[in-house]
Amino acid sequence: MLKNTVTRWALAVVSAVILSGTAMAQTKPNVVILATGGTIAGAGADVTNSATYQAAKVPVDKLIAGIPQLSNVAAVRGEQVFQIASESFTNANLLTLGKRVAALAKQSDVDGIVITHGTDTTEETAYFLNLVVHTEKPIVVVASMRPGTAMSADGTLNLYSAVSVAGSKDARGKGVLVVMNDEINSGRDVTKAINIKVEAFKSPWGPLGLVVEGKNYWFRKLDKRHTMTSEFDIEKIDALPQVEIAYAAGSVTDVAYRSLVASGAKAIIHAGPGNGSVSGTLVPALQELRSKGVHIIRSTHVNAGGFVLRNAEQPDDKYDWVVAHDLNPQKARILATVALTATNDTKELQRIFWEY
Ligand code: DGL
Repeated sequence: MLKNTVTRWALAVVSAVILSGTAMAQTKPNVVILATGGTIAGAGADVTNSATYQAAKVPVDKLIAGIPQLSNVAAVRGEQVFQIASESFTNANLLTLGKRVAALAKQSDVDGIVITHGTDTTEETAYFLNLVVHTEKPIVVVASMRPGTAMSADGTLNLYSAVSVAGSKDARGKGVLVVMNDEINSGRDVTKAINIKVEAFKSPWGPLGLVVEGKNYWFRKLDKRHTMTSEFDIEKIDALPQVEIAYAAGSVTDVAYRSLVASGAKAIIHAGPGNGSVSGTLVPALQELRSKGVHIIRSTHVNAGGFVLRNAEQPDDKYDWVVAHDLNPQKARILATVALTATNDTKELQRIFWEY
């Protein structure tokens, strides 16, 4: 009798230990790292080379192996989607990456996704994914300003923080995030504001939160439509139209605008000074291009945070133009590219620019 009781007790203890161990193993979120290249995968010749290096050299498995502490915050696996410097990203790269992210997000064994990326176009990729991937799961884009071979390289902590955020339940439903330099920024708002400092990324309206030693501290939410509330779905997009940016300063001429349309652009983002101002010398050409069905979208190249108002100095209603709201030219290009997959109507385009 006593022997049976002891046996049952021993079995109960062993089962409890196994279950708790399994439970512990299961409490770690599954995070997939999609690597695309950039400085975070860069390599310099010497530890003093913090700005002179080759981007897109280190493979994802080596990035993961270089940070054993990742296993403390998540069960991590990597995929090498591309190995390029991000200034070379194309619409085709965005489609491929977006479709892979969407497919992974639908998998029950994936709790969060991290994308390692070059800093130059991090803001474009993050905004694109924010617009077209329908998931509540955290999607975190991460980069670095210094290669991993440099003294005080920032990529290691950035990647650790990104994986930690991607595995966090409290990061769900916040839209695509960019984690850099302890900050959690919205993929919609953030831009590369300084190209030579570790504190490179800024959102004109501030970060969403901070991540410190693997813990998230949230301050605000993104009010614009994104991910689950977006009307755009990467699974229904197989091609992206050509949208170009024309930079305008004093003495601007219409040569760039005309040649960009001649090359096939369906819309031109006017990167104007101030409130997206348009020189009088440009107006006739823009009216002609609009009459040929090309959309003109006024953005601004002011760098601390633009805000283009409709019908302020420019008669947008009269010319049938669109304003890019607070989006910088490169973000406006992303939104126009996605929006034109759904509509060519000016009023609809303007609604989309107010809402996203
Ligand atoms: N080559 C640029 C890029 O890949 C800069 C490298 C980086 O900062 O990630 O975006």
